[in-house]
Amino acid sequence: MSLDGKVAIVTGSGRGLGLAYAQELARQGASVVVNDVSADAAAEAVGAIEAEGGKAVAVVAPVGPTETAKRLVQTAVDTYGRLDILVTNAGVLRDTVLWKMSDDDFDTVIGVHLRGTFTCVREAATYMRANEIAGRIICIGSPTGQRGNFGQTNYAAAKAGIVGMVRTWAMELKKAGITANAVIPVAATAMTATVPYFAAAVEADAKGEAMPAFFRHDLGFGTSGDVAGLISYLASDSAASVTGQAIGIGGDRLQLWSHPEAVVTEYHEGGWSYDALEAEFPALIGEKQQSVGERFPALPEELQR
Ligand SMILES: NC(=O)c1ccc[n+]([C@@H]2O[C@H](COP(=O)([O-])OP(=O)(O)OC[C@H]3O[C@@H](n4cnc5c(N)ncnc54)[C@H](O)[C@@H]3O)[C@@H](O)[C@H]2O)c1
Repeated sequence: MSLDGKVAIVTGSGRGLGLAYAQELARQGASVVVNDVSADAAAEAVGAIEAEGGKAVAVVAPVGPTETAKRLVQTAVDTYGRLDILVTNAGVLRDTVLWKMSDDDFDTVIGVHLRGTFTCVREAATYMRANEIAGRIICIGSPTGQRGNFGQTNYAAAKAGIVGMVRTWAMELKKAGITANAVIPVAATAMTATVPYFAAAVEADAKGEAMPAFFRHDLGFGTSGDVAGLISYLASDSAASVTGQAIGIGGDRLQLWSHPEAVVTEYHEGGWSYDALEAEFPALIGEKQQSVGERFPALPEELQR
């Protein structure tokens, strides 16, 4: 198996995508530290992994504070002797439009996703560097972080920030042979089950039926299991040269996201004054303004609910 002898931490792995990642890493031979705020979900996840012959231990604690990050790394080392792989997946949503978003809505989402990713990766990378382990850091982003989304100021900030940190970590950790990548998943979970657009796919999944091809192919929307293979690939020795990337996956679709690049570069000798901009901006940039938000194709009539 590709991950024999390796040890992984997956945050927020009591259910949903995190659970699928933990199960897949265990199937590939890794011993897994499962983490969640729900003790029941974490215990069930450990049970499910052990039932398949895998090795897992639970840490029930909220990701965000440094103390939790330290506990996670310490548990990996105390229980299995080392740490090779960290997947920062734990997440919550507090969706509402900007003018209704409270400080608490903002701080909660930033605390779990952005701060939680920072504290866990800092702890794991420090351990890996000190022990000369060519580790794997896999952080979870979102299409919302890449493109923006109505009602998700807090989540867009956190997820865009995570990809920004990954670019930086790929540079900082290169010499140590540690890779850092972002995965941009889309899947049917508790987080997406209530989105009306996905209803027909979620309905099919709940009945144990295959999701319609429109979702799997055109939208790249499938099950949590569809995302898990990329996590184990990035965690493996085969992906040693893949770092600093944001890779999209869902259903039958795999995507490589670009990092922001300047799409227009123009010069004005002496600099760009207001008058120069007023005269030249519309012709140089006006038509080339970048679009925002995800572009969803129209839902075929038979899939409308
Ligand atoms: N489902 C999707 O289509 C989708 C799309 C883009 C990104 N994501 C991201 O994937 C990750 C997993 O999403 P999901 O859809 O499986 O969500 P989910 O709500 O089904 O699962 C999230 C898990 O994280 C746990 N959790 C929440 N706060 C925590 C904390 N502070 N510490 C530890 N665990 C905590 C929850 O208890 C839950 O078990 C999230 O980061 C999410 O933003 C999901």
